Amino acid sequence: MGMDAGAGEKPNENVVRHNLTVDRQARIGISRQRSAVLWFTGLSGSGKSTIANALEIRLHQAGRLSYLLDGDNVRLGLNADLGFSEHDRKENNRRVAHVARLFWDANVLTLVSFISPFRHERETARQLIGPDFIEIFVDTPMAECEKRDPKGLYVKARKGEIAQFTGISSPYEPPENPEIVLHTDRESVAESVERIVALLTARGYL
Ligand code: ADX
Repeated sequence: MGMDAGAGEKPNENVVRHNLTVDRQARIGISRQRSAVLWFTGLSGSGKSTIANALEIRLHQAGRLSYLLDGDNVRLGLNADLGFSEHDRKENNRRVAHVARLFWDANVLTLVSFISPFRHERETARQLIGPDFIEIFVDTPMAECEKRDPKGLYVKARKGEIAQFTGISSPYEPPENPEIVLHTDRESVAESVERIVALLTARGYL
């Protein structure tokens, strides 16, 4: 089967997709796991990366091959040319959706941790991945994120030292139908991880 032309791909008449014989199904056949994309979305400081990291430790301990694509890290490399305008955030999220699809095709349990503030871009990612896409809304109230301020960015944004800061001077569109909503102001990291593990187990990924 190989990879089909996915949503958001611009066709070029001179580029033809090769259908590769060793595809995701073939890879599933020689491993004891089935890939999914766990897409964490939420404000800066909401706890996305902390929870994704704790989940990945859990998956690793269970002997599953995983990979965590983290916004800050991907922005240092692949997306180093992008800033925080609406256009650049959409491009940031579009690219990581395609990278996530490659990891999914490689049959890796893929964790994506980006603010990903725009509903349309998250829906495009969902379409690109299909039924193995799991959207996890880290629904930490803005006031709580600002109180935590782990990187001191809210202080800077309030002083006007960072432009287009999510929640202050740039929008965040909450998901309408996420598979999981995490309330980090009321539940521990361990509890959040357990709820994700329960869903992965129920859906046959673990
Ligand atoms: S996204 O909106 O394009 O999905 P992404 O998750 O990649 O964002 O990057 C967010 C991280 O960049 C934040 O955790 C924060 O450390 C840093 N950052 C720097 N400037 C901004 C800004 N203007 N708004 C939000 N985050 C910012």
